Amino acid sequence: MASETGGKALEALTFDERRFPPPAEFKAKANWKDESVYAEAERDLEGFWAGHAEGFTWSKKWERVLDWRVPCAKWFVGGRTNISENCLDRHVKAGLGSKTAYHWEGEPGDTRTVSYADLLAETQRCANALRELGVRTGDRVAIYMPMVPELPVAMLACARIGAPFTVVFGGFSAEALAGRINDSGAKLVITADGGYRKGNIVQLKKNTDDAIAQTTTVEKVLVYRRTKHDVPWTSGRDVWWHDIIPKQKAECPAEQLDSEHMLYLLYTSGTTAKPKGIVHTTAGYMVGTATTHKYIFDIKPDDVYWCAADIGWVTGHSYIVFGPLANATTSVMYEGTPDFPDKDRWWSIVERYRVSILYCAPTAIRTFMKWGPQYPHMHDMRSLRLLGSVGEPINPEAWIWYHETIGGGRCPIVDTWWMTETGMILISPLPGITTTKPGSATFPFPGVRADVVDDEGKSVPFGGAGYLVITSPWPAMLRGIYGDDQRYRETYWSRFPGRYFAGDGAKRDQGGYLWLLGRVDDVMKISGHRISTTEVESALVSHPKVAEAAVIGREDPITGQAIFAFVSLRSGNEESEELSKELREHVVKGIGSIARPKTIMFTPELPKTRSGKIMRRLLRDIAQERPLGDVTTLADASVVEQIRTASAAGKED
Ligand code: PRX
Repeated sequence: MASETGGKALEALTFDERRFPPPAEFKAKANWKDESVYAEAERDLEGFWAGHAEGFTWSKKWERVLDWRVPCAKWFVGGRTNISENCLDRHVKAGLGSKTAYHWEGEPGDTRTVSYADLLAETQRCANALRELGVRTGDRVAIYMPMVPELPVAMLACARIGAPFTVVFGGFSAEALAGRINDSGAKLVITADGGYRKGNIVQLKKNTDDAIAQTTTVEKVLVYRRTKHDVPWTSGRDVWWHDIIPKQKAECPAEQLDSEHMLYLLYTSGTTAKPKGIVHTTAGYMVGTATTHKYIFDIKPDDVYWCAADIGWVTGHSYIVFGPLANATTSVMYEGTPDFPDKDRWWSIVERYRVSILYCAPTAIRTFMKWGPQYPHMHDMRSLRLLGSVGEPINPEAWIWYHETIGGGRCPIVDTWWMTETGMILISPLPGITTTKPGSATFPFPGVRADVVDDEGKSVPFGGAGYLVITSPWPAMLRGIYGDDQRYRETYWSRFPGRYFAGDGAKRDQGGYLWLLGRVDDVMKISGHRISTTEVESALVSHPKVAEAAVIGREDPITGQAIFAFVSLRSGNEESEELSKELREHVVKGIGSIARPKTIMFTPELPKTRSGKIMRRLLRDIAQERPLGDVTTLADASVVEQIRTASAAGKED
């Protein structure tokens, strides 16, 4: 296959020495083909972003592009607009009402085609229903839904009336949902009876009920019927979607909101047990997501774009809902898993909808590699012209496989680096300009400034490694952590004052290319999902038989990292297979199935320093079966031996 991208000579090079310039044909038609865009943006950063903001509908134009008082940014100050109007009405008015917004496919195989006109009408009905249910501008709404078109409808309806929403991923447990409802003070929950996953029903309504039992703010629950199975019902509180929405008027003028009006909250894991409610606002987020989407994915009117993430994560917010809709893009939206009913499901979708742009996570790519090329080869995938990757570092081997086996050697790959907090992609190739190197996210997007710094905050020369920082504000940046200004300042702005600390390690090669090296804090990336070690530890310790727990992310060839938990039991409790299973389920109940530990190792004690700090580095070495480094600071050196003996005796499972 290497012959398709440059012949035998390239095969001799290691993966990350290979270079992939944009194919001439791609470049010729690219939305951006001239690298002068970088210098232009750099000359006048505010002017650059203002230029991209011009194309949107504003009921009042901004007075100033940016108001930056570290660490508080305001973008398009004084402007008034509505993101729902910009994603829907603007296009319908321009004659695109019949254009498909979503080709939707349910896991069981049912399909729907949703046009921009359909989406606008349903969003307006939903917005009117929200008002009937007592939701006013500023009230928070929690959304806990499967991947059905009604999920974007719910988000757009909230945005339309200025009710900040918080989408909770359907794989999170009732307890996790309760925590988010409580922190946001949500008044309404929008959910479904259930959703389909691997042929099973996810009990969304039951989980919602269990969650609400632990909260005090919820007044109404709006329930979309998806699976049609029996669900518990609280009359007076619960309302069926099909009872209230169809009778509403399909007109609901969009509330004109201040540029800085809160659009949504999205909870993500930090280094403590309590997830952070990341605050995103309206206008800067709209401009940032739409602009990056248009140029990084080289969006054209006839593209069929598929971001295969879940809307429960930021990737889905920015690049399934707001970015693509703002650009009047036709998207594919798929409800289920890649192996249902068989392992070629994704490729069958690509073939049937003629998908031209695919955006997914390295974990998915590595899983497909493991399953083998026979599945993609069952389908005609010549419609693909561009591929994207997000969520974790992509290893060069997976990059090459993606390029050859999925992209047929002809599609540029955009490895996009960003975070829940950044709202939009910050580091990525531009597919018509950048010569890519497998495994490198390459350069900051025009209008974004990044650096790699050492412990003292000094810029590391090319060729060196350090911490990634973002050195000037960007439009879609988080505006804070909901209800915790102190934590906002400490987490992102105190390590290197005046600069945004991402929490990622990075190296910059001699050509200035950025290579992201993963988290430098206690945040794990499990299949691209962000989970904090402390969150899992506190779930484990809440079990009555557990005395102490230490959790680390162990390298995993498929999921990037896998959860490895060291657990010491309270005296009088016996280690057993059964208990190990029970503890895993306990974590699932506390957080969700994405946090289920892959390995639990019972150990009589955890290695600690004399000051009582758990030595995670040592645990990491043990889990990775690496030679142990310095153990002289250990309070009781025999502990390591005990853990090793436990490990050798196969007590790990
Ligand atoms: O470690 C980086 C990793 O994902 C983290 C952010 O996670 P989350 O907020 O869940 O958002 C993921 C989707 C935007 C980052 O701190 N990460 C994300 N994209 C990449 C990445 N690491 C390497 N390369 C990427 N392209």
